[in-house]
Amino acid sequence: MSKASKAVISGLGKFVPSRKLTNKDFEKMVDTSDEWITSRTGIKERRIAADDETTSDLGYKAALDALDDSGITAQKLDLILVATVTPDKVFPATACIIQDKLGADNIPAFDIEAGCSGFVYAVNIASQFIESGSYENILVIGAETLSKITDYEDRSTCVLFGDGAGAAVLQPADEGGLLSFTMGADGSGSDYLQIPAGGSARPTSQKTVANREHYIKMAGNEVFKFAVKTMARASRKVVEDAGKKTEDIDLFVPHQANTRIIEAAAKRLNLKSDEVFVNLPKYGNTSGASVPLALKEAQEEGLLNKGDNIVLVAFGAGLTWSSALIEWV
Ligand code: UT7
Repeated sequence: MSKASKAVISGLGKFVPSRKLTNKDFEKMVDTSDEWITSRTGIKERRIAADDETTSDLGYKAALDALDDSGITAQKLDLILVATVTPDKVFPATACIIQDKLGADNIPAFDIEAGCSGFVYAVNIASQFIESGSYENILVIGAETLSKITDYEDRSTCVLFGDGAGAAVLQPADEGGLLSFTMGADGSGSDYLQIPAGGSARPTSQKTVANREHYIKMAGNEVFKFAVKTMARASRKVVEDAGKKTEDIDLFVPHQANTRIIEAAAKRLNLKSDEVFVNLPKYGNTSGASVPLALKEAQEEGLLNKGDNIVLVAFGAGLTWSSALIEWV
């Protein structure tokens, strides 16, 4: 058992499918335009998994990248957490399927279902096991194939979502790492973002399929208002809990859903544009994969430096939110 008190991210990875769907492609599919999508969301293109490509396939490849980056093998892992709203199957957990692909025999593996907040939730949960000394090497994956639950006849949602995966290895260290976190939920907003059928409330039937109830339904305006308020509040909270100020934030890595949401949150926190990481134009909203995919690309761009205060923050179905302040090591 470890005696270290902090969880650090020691490796990051990503994987995205090769097929791209651009705004121009959508002009041929539904009544929309590149101009509308760009100005209302900031998205230009997104990646789409192949028919036989699963969430576990994407998560597995991101995991290999993260393990390589951290310099440990899958056999050293103590726990695997997967944040996803698009599991390979209703059960078993996608984490178990990835555990098998990695050959990380017999270690615990389970999924976190917290909508787009799932990866940040999972990092915070993993950190508790490290801080308690229970586990030393934890793999946290955010992976999604949202294209499989997107209604490509519904212009209000289909232009938003994409597929991808990101992963992080968490390990103990004496200093730096996760300094503070928040997690929250407001279930009174559970109908605002959902797949209505396929669960115990509305089991699958010919009627639910005919009514397209197995696809994402969203009250966009309600989620938008919730997102702006929550992202700023949750970010401010982790900074203050760590005894710091918003001026101390070096890099803000938010859930990539809409540039207008990100800009509004950044404005409330008085952040400069070069302190805010955005890769939404390339990938759209990848739900649980969005924050680790952004974090990996921030690393690739040399934006994660020792001593930096990095804020991760996300919101999503539930409705849920979560944030973390990480001192990079
Ligand atoms: O990860 C969490 C998941 N969700 C989110 O983060 C989404 C949060 N919400 C949003 O990002 C925004 O609410 C949307 C991008 C979804 C929508 O933007 P909006 O500015 O709130 O637009 P709106 O829903 O108020 O719709 C404005 C108009 C409507 O037309 P009318 O009723 O004014 O004639 C829509 O029918 O835009 C229309 N519209 C479109 N037009 C062209 C909706 N979708 C499209 C489209 N192309 N794809």
